[in-house]
Amino acid sequence: MHDPYSAAGLRYDTMHYRRSGRSGLKLPLIALGLWHNFGGVDRLENGRAMMRRAFDLGINHFDLANNYGPPPGSAEESFGQIFRHDFRPYRDELIISTKAGYAMWPGPYGEWGSRKYLIASLDQSLRRMGLDYVDIFYHHRPDPDTPLEETMSALDQVVRQGKALYVGISNYDAEETRRAARILRELGTPCLINQVVYNMFDRWVEPALLDTAAAEGVGLIFFSPLAQGLLTNRYLDGMPSDSRALKSGVFLRPEHITESALARIRQLNVIAQARGQTLAQMALAWVLRHPAATAALIGTSSVQQVEDCAAAVRKLDFSAEELAAINTALAE
Ligand SMILES: NC(=O)c1ccc[n+]([C@@H]2O[C@H](COP(=O)([O-])OP(=O)(O)OC[C@H]3O[C@@H](n4cnc5c(N)ncnc54)[C@H](OP(=O)(O)O)[C@@H]3O)[C@@H](O)[C@H]2O)c1
Repeated sequence: MHDPYSAAGLRYDTMHYRRSGRSGLKLPLIALGLWHNFGGVDRLENGRAMMRRAFDLGINHFDLANNYGPPPGSAEESFGQIFRHDFRPYRDELIISTKAGYAMWPGPYGEWGSRKYLIASLDQSLRRMGLDYVDIFYHHRPDPDTPLEETMSALDQVVRQGKALYVGISNYDAEETRRAARILRELGTPCLINQVVYNMFDRWVEPALLDTAAAEGVGLIFFSPLAQGLLTNRYLDGMPSDSRALKSGVFLRPEHITESALARIRQLNVIAQARGQTLAQMALAWVLRHPAATAALIGTSSVQQVEDCAAAVRKLDFSAEELAAINTALAE
């Protein structure tokens, strides 16, 4: 069994918070995602320890989706168990987000972007997590077949029902973001944020989406800022036996950790050391350097990784020379 949890008194002393777009909501620069390491196959006590440490360090934003696990749905169930025991007294201090968009149940209403799917999925998520409402409900991926008006109107509906306080979109490109933001504005439920991948190895948001989000007043939260662990010290001395790349059914594969990627990672690590940071910390500061950036959304497999990432906020600024050196390392 685990001890009762009492959050650290100084939990808001070191983390920084940024307003999401033109909303009233401030989010911590570092958010913790439950995509991996919180499934039914994982050790709940490790998840609990990571969430406790995160919150103690001012990371009050936990990000989920209907399909996180494995099996799908089990990360929300794990979160619910931890929330019930540890975090219920802190509900008003937390930002809890979930999403719907990927395959969740059989038949035509189990994925994509129809009103039928989104409303049912959020109801299921709330039940699994044991919550009355989430803080942010996202449409997880653009749907090429459903009219965007229907998907956005379903997001507006869940806010009016009191099941979500804010809504967001995920994996929407610049043009899709512009259209979604316009529709949501007209409905009276502004788009809070777009959640997209961004890291030194994947710069697709530059510059169009960065510019569009700023112009539309939509925040940006960047997922996989560490390229799933590549942009850390994890692979500098070979493949660790507990790496996510060795687990089944995940996106990072051992074949992604190539010699040429490793050569770049080693160079980036030298730049990070010269800044007095770990590579993970530099990678986080790097995605947060844009004025349009709201937050970086990490995953972790240990308490020590939570602590390392949270400390990224100690040094966020870059000199022009450092940015040029990073670009040179990435171009090699
Ligand atoms: N909207 C979407 O479509 C979408 C897609 C993907 C992710 N997301 C969200 O973004 C979150 C983060 O994604 P991600 O897990 O890919 O992010 P990430 O932060 O790029 O990668 C996380 C992995 O990096 C390693 N790591 C983390 N901190 C470290 C540190 N300080 N030192 C060394 N290694 C470290 C760990 O690998 P090991 O496990 O090997 O230790 C960890 O599992 C997800 O949980 C989810 O909430 C959203």
